[in-house]
Amino acid sequence: MNFLTDPFLISADRFDGPVLVTGAGGCIGAWVCAILDRSGVSVIASDLKKSPGRAALLMGDEAAQALDWRALDVTDGASVAELVSGKGVGAIIHLAGLQVPFCAANPALGARVNVEGTINILQAARDAGLKRTVFASSVAAAAFPPGGPYAETLYGAYKVANEQTAFVYWQDWQVPSIGLRPNVVYGVARDQGISSKNTIAIQAAVLGEAYDIPFTGPYSWLYAGEAASAFIAAVSRDGSGAHVFDLNGRCDTIETGLAALDDLSPGHRITASGAPFPFPPDLDEAPLRKHVPDYPAISVADGVETTWRAFGELKSQGRLPPLPQ
Ligand SMILES: NC(=O)c1ccc[n+]([C@@H]2O[C@H](COP(=O)([O-])OP(=O)(O)OC[C@H]3O[C@@H](n4cnc5c(N)ncnc54)[C@H](O)[C@@H]3O)[C@@H](O)[C@H]2O)c1
Repeated sequence: MNFLTDPFLISADRFDGPVLVTGAGGCIGAWVCAILDRSGVSVIASDLKKSPGRAALLMGDEAAQALDWRALDVTDGASVAELVSGKGVGAIIHLAGLQVPFCAANPALGARVNVEGTINILQAARDAGLKRTVFASSVAAAAFPPGGPYAETLYGAYKVANEQTAFVYWQDWQVPSIGLRPNVVYGVARDQGISSKNTIAIQAAVLGEAYDIPFTGPYSWLYAGEAASAFIAAVSRDGSGAHVFDLNGRCDTIETGLAALDDLSPGHRITASGAPFPFPPDLDEAPLRKHVPDYPAISVADGVETTWRAFGELKSQGRLPPLPQ
């Protein structure tokens, strides 16, 4: 399914040394690995997970199995440092993390993975003299200081800690970094959490099943390939300073996505109901676009169509996972 990664390929000569991806088993990580691999960029894919399940959806089993896949726990600082220095890593895309419900269920583990894990990455970058590190923050960090439109969560608090830690790593030791705060990601391999409902709806349309998206109105449509591309572009040149940027995608309505489905799956049984999604859909992406070299912007119509087509191909190949609950 090369059409998934075609719009996002990047020139391999923009990278000097392998790119280490943490959290490669996740949705954004799978897209980052698939794009880098097809671009001919050397990639070291790492995760707690032992196998590249989500990447296989995008790349096919054979290409995913051929990835240089490492079992790496980011809370293990010695292993992180050893991998970064031992493999001559040239850039780090740090995506490993525990999501909102997992941090709430086990706050200490959440802090170890999300906060200490990020410190281990920054420390390894410092030790190796790396000038190219990007890490995933989140719009959940925008909940602090409290009192704004976002719910305050431990997950968000940990992401704030990461951003401020990165600032000190630059101030005290000149370790450059970029933190990206993705809004809501959709696309193939997005399969868990309340904000995956628009992706699940596209899969349900392919399966001919009825599905109700439990919100309406304005939404942040951040295509997974576009999000991955932003992370890749962020480390495609040496950095200076500790920056944090919002990564929003298109602000458009849920109904716009449904209209795209009308054309693709006439007679589909996908509906939307309820109040708007309870997070701002229109974060300002201009500062990121100004700082980071070009990466594609995918329209809602194109993102929905490509996702629909990919789910259709996976279905016809007998590789479509069950509809997430
Ligand atoms: N998807 C979104 O909409 C979104 C929005 C905002 C921020 N983010 C952030 O972007 C990053 C990637 O998001 P995603 O949707 O791909 O997440 P995901 O939950 O799909 O993937 C995270 C990955 O991290 C791995 N992981 C967990 N603990 C680990 C550890 N100790 N060591 C190594 N790996 C570990 C998991 O196995 C998983 O594969 C996360 O940090 C997330 O907080 C995502």
